[in-house]
Amino acid sequence: MNVLVVGGAGYLGGAVVDLLLKSAHQVRVYDALLYEECYRKPVDFVYGDVRDDDHLRTELAWADALVWLAAVVGDRACDLNPDVTVRINEKSVAGLAQNFSGRIVFTSSCSIYGSQSGRTLTETSPLDPLSLYASTKLAAERYLAKKNAIVFRLGTMFGVGDNFARVRLDLVVNTFALQAIQHGKITIFGGNQFRPLLHVRDAARAVVDAIASSHTGIFNLHRQNVRISDLACQIRNHFPDLIIENVDIPARDARDYRVSSDKARALLGFRPIHSIDEGIEQVEELLQTNRLKQPDNPRYANDRYLASVGQQAIMTQAPMIPGSGGNGRAREVGTTVAIGRPAEREEAPAAA
Ligand SMILES: NC(=O)c1ccc[n+]([C@@H]2O[C@H](COP(=O)([O-])OP(=O)(O)OC[C@H]3O[C@@H](n4cnc5c(N)ncnc54)[C@H](O)[C@@H]3O)[C@@H](O)[C@H]2O)c1
Repeated sequence: MNVLVVGGAGYLGGAVVDLLLKSAHQVRVYDALLYEECYRKPVDFVYGDVRDDDHLRTELAWADALVWLAAVVGDRACDLNPDVTVRINEKSVAGLAQNFSGRIVFTSSCSIYGSQSGRTLTETSPLDPLSLYASTKLAAERYLAKKNAIVFRLGTMFGVGDNFARVRLDLVVNTFALQAIQHGKITIFGGNQFRPLLHVRDAARAVVDAIASSHTGIFNLHRQNVRISDLACQIRNHFPDLIIENVDIPARDARDYRVSSDKARALLGFRPIHSIDEGIEQVEELLQTNRLKQPDNPRYANDRYLASVGQQAIMTQAPMIPGSGGNGRAREVGTTVAIGRPAEREEAPAAA
């Protein structure tokens, strides 16, 4: 199958594309490179924006199946510019539903369950989206309801997905590991709230397996539900001198939920294999071996990056690359493709 990975240059996309490269599928990535200067994975690449309907439609014509990962991801990142967030996370999916009749694998989020402590949530449980991010994900799910689409409500991911893509250090396990290494101390607010967690490579495996499956509908995907204070103690197993500071005020982020992934286990054979300890060790190794020159660089946190250097990137639609035949596609296919600096961004009004 021809598989287009939209948003494939991101954290999860890096792991998804690695698995696809080992498969019999033809792979192409379509991404606006919000956080990257270049895309160098040896795979066919199209520099494009999901807000560019004409450009996207050309690529949809090539694809038999789509993995749709593109989004402004995270509550704080989405709040930076609500109009742009709705355009990217929601309206572009509405357009997709109209313009594509092939197989779709879409990543939603367990965040749409909001704050519902005391019970384990299944795909039919009530929803309580507490943020713009969550409500745009829910709206997108609804656009796909009647399509040949499988929707994964992912838990919070952790670990290192591949050797190329930007690792996200704004996700709770990775953040705690970073703070432990940098400061010898982590601060937790409240701490009683639960989060479903999932290694990024287990998420990628489920996504890739779903491309050729005939299952449709919504599936929760997580490895285990973890209380934040327990996660902090688990981090201390790796850093025995770690100080855990408890601040007895509610977290700014009010999400608190436990989910069940029994449906994915029963119907899809979902079996996560990567542990939280493994994820902690991966982040530890990345940092201890100084492979991230500046772990504090805003690039590793979506909201910090978009609030600073990246704001312009998200406000304006990714332009076509001059000289690429008018379709924004890098000219080499199947070899290492360096995009380098995108064409000068035009001072255009926000696309939203
Ligand atoms: N990371 C998590 O813990 C988590 C949890 C639940 C759900 N998800 C979902 O998984 C998916 C991938 O998340 P991630 O952590 O890899 O995020 P990410 O921010 O690392 O990747 C998103 C990718 O989408 C691209 N993108 C954004 N706007 C675009 C646009 N307008 N046009 C084209 N490309 C665009 C970005 O350049 C980036 O490469 C998202 O849909 C997210 O909502 C992630």
